Amino acid sequence: MQTITFVGNGNMALSIAKGLKETYKIEVVGRSFEKLDLFEKNLGIKIEKHMMSNYDMTDKTIMLCVKPANIQEIATRLNGRAKVIYSVLAGTSVQKLKVNLNPHAVVRTMPNLAASVNKSMTTLTGDEEYKIEAQALLGTIGKTRWLSSEKEIDIATALAGSGPAYLALIAEAFTDGAVKQGLKRDDAMAIMRGLFEGFGDLIQDIHPALLKDGVMSPAGTTAAGYGALEDGNVRSSCINAIEKAYKKAVELS
Ligand SMILES: NC(=O)c1ccc[n+]([C@@H]2O[C@H](COP(=O)([O-])OP(=O)(O)OC[C@H]3O[C@@H](n4cnc5c(N)ncnc54)[C@H](OP(=O)(O)O)[C@@H]3O)[C@@H](O)[C@H]2O)c1
Repeated sequence: MQTITFVGNGNMALSIAKGLKETYKIEVVGRSFEKLDLFEKNLGIKIEKHMMSNYDMTDKTIMLCVKPANIQEIATRLNGRAKVIYSVLAGTSVQKLKVNLNPHAVVRTMPNLAASVNKSMTTLTGDEEYKIEAQALLGTIGKTRWLSSEKEIDIATALAGSGPAYLALIAEAFTDGAVKQGLKRDDAMAIMRGLFEGFGDLIQDIHPALLKDGVMSPAGTTAAGYGALEDGNVRSSCINAIEKAYKKAVELS
């Protein structure tokens, strides 16, 4: 059984480890045994636990799950040349990871919040040699998409990484709208959740424009509401949201 070594024992490490635990041996490198024990308890299987200081990464397959700001600090604690580092660090370039941690290969991965329910939309880029392995590893927590450049992963971060926040705003606003018209809050919430679940399935196979055409009858209720969304510049605001988030990702990296 291949071993995957997690560096970092936070939320993202746990989500990915849950996806991998049936098919890979899990090893975790952290800063405190207390947190490593808690990680093991939450994962529900026995893992190998190591302290970060002087941990030897030589020839290991590393899943790097610390915060972007921790790179320089962990570089002073870890030793050896990893075979490959799969990094989940937002906005941290392949170059920066190579300079600081000196692995043979790097793959950047960008999971999203839905990793905790095994439905992440994860984008990947980096050393092509590890494309298939990266898709298999990150595929255990949802869908993956390999992109051909780091610019593209920064754009995709604005879409899939920040996307849950944008859709949450829409979900909350529509629910508030229904409450404003007199629907009870718990009914409105239940209906909104059902709407998103069904829509999530439909959008897999149907183009958004055709979905809209399918529900919008002439001079009907949907057309009235749709016109209000266009009046409110929702389409343009969404396009601007991706631009702002992408520019911020570039600025931060
Ligand atoms: N959460 C998401 O939805 C999401 C989505 C995409 C990408 N990411 C990326 O995933 C990474 C981890 O996020 P997370 O949500 O798992 O964060 P988290 O739960 O806060 O975990 C952070 C981990 O980093 C370790 N750490 C913190 N400071 C450190 C230091 N100075 N030196 C060494 N280790 C240190 C923590 O160790 P201790 O436990 O000892 O404090 C912990 O294991 C981030 O880089 C983020 O960009 C997250």
